[in-house]
Amino acid sequence: MQIAIHHTSDSFSDHWIEYCKKNNINYKIVNAFDNDIICQLKDCDALMWHHHHGHFKDVLAARKILFALEHAGVKVFPDFKTGWHFDDKVAQKYILEAIDAPLVPSYVFYDRKEAEDWAKQTTYPKVFKLKGGAGAANVKLIKSRAEAFKVIGKSFGKGFSQFDRMGNLSDRYKKFRSGSGSLLLVLKGVARLFIPTDFAKQQSPERGYVYFQEFIPDNNHDTRVVVIGGQKAAAEKRYVRKNDFRASGSGSFSYDNIDTNAVKISFEVSKRLGLQAVAFDFVLDEEGKPLIVELSYGFGARGISEAPGYWDSQLNWHADRFNPQQWMIENIINSLEPADVSRQSVD
Ligand SMILES: Nc1ncnc2c1ncn2[C@@H]1O[C@H](COP(=O)(O)OP(=O)(O)O)[C@@H](O)[C@H]1O
Ligand SMILES: [Mg+2]
Repeated sequence: MQIAIHHTSDSFSDHWIEYCKKNNINYKIVNAFDNDIICQLKDCDALMWHHHHGHFKDVLAARKILFALEHAGVKVFPDFKTGWHFDDKVAQKYILEAIDAPLVPSYVFYDRKEAEDWAKQTTYPKVFKLKGGAGAANVKLIKSRAEAFKVIGKSFGKGFSQFDRMGNLSDRYKKFRSGSGSLLLVLKGVARLFIPTDFAKQQSPERGYVYFQEFIPDNNHDTRVVVIGGQKAAAEKRYVRKNDFRASGSGSFSYDNIDTNAVKISFEVSKRLGLQAVAFDFVLDEEGKPLIVELSYGFGARGISEAPGYWDSQLNWHADRFNPQQWMIENIINSLEPADVSRQSVD
């Protein structure tokens, strides 16, 4: 048995490699961008790659390579079911609606007139989002029809950059004012007004669609639930920024008083969709019912790994360490055919 790992520092792969070393698992570090990558993987039984939505080359290539291998019978992480809707909130709307999961009511339009007709007769506020992005960077409250028309016009006009320079600076400034960010970060935000990120330079503008969600009011936090292999889940509450409705990226969180209904729904959806790994974000509606805001196979693992324990799929609590990356690789190894595993001893 041999596991191929595409390594990026400060990602899941640090832990996968550590796990292989510690447990004498045969592994091979690969550069998935090599032209002959498929050939290089001929002696491997699996490929694991923590691809990132903010790395342009990953966005361009990762899923093609992973899905091609999966199609040919190689085990991969993330696999198709886990990864096809990654960083695409519109895709997530369709898949969650298709299985009747409790998603925040969401609306997408591919036609300017249809979007405007809807905007004329709907209520406000609504939440406008680009399909991609994280840390609440591309999420905005729309308070009136006029504001809705403005974003609709831009969506079907010149489009939105994936990187909102003014939004980024204003977020950094607010964090600085509230004591949770440094002046250096604000200054870097100012520099970013003039020097776009590599990603923003390469990625074409977001346009040709517009996406809104119902605004779910009175949430001072969201609930992030991470489920690995449909078997183990940990959760954290993330508090919203001051005078803001957005939690992700705020940097302020707690592990107390987690809504176990959100955990239960997370297990159900994760199993129903066959997800190897997933992070769900929930808000609570007026009746306290958890609604999914988005889901993602990739997530920042540092905070969640400090959780005081985790639930199993029977919702029993285990006061042990939550080890998402370790369980990802263990699940891949366990999914290999016995023949693949026994090859290890022959090799
Ligand atoms: N429809 C909504 N109603 C109320 N709050 C929301 C809604 N959608 C998102 N939020 C808040 O905004 C934050 C960012 O939204 P999210 O869709 O998770 O984007 P990102 O991918 O940037 O994390 C969430 O963490 C949540 O606190
Ligand atoms: Mg989020």
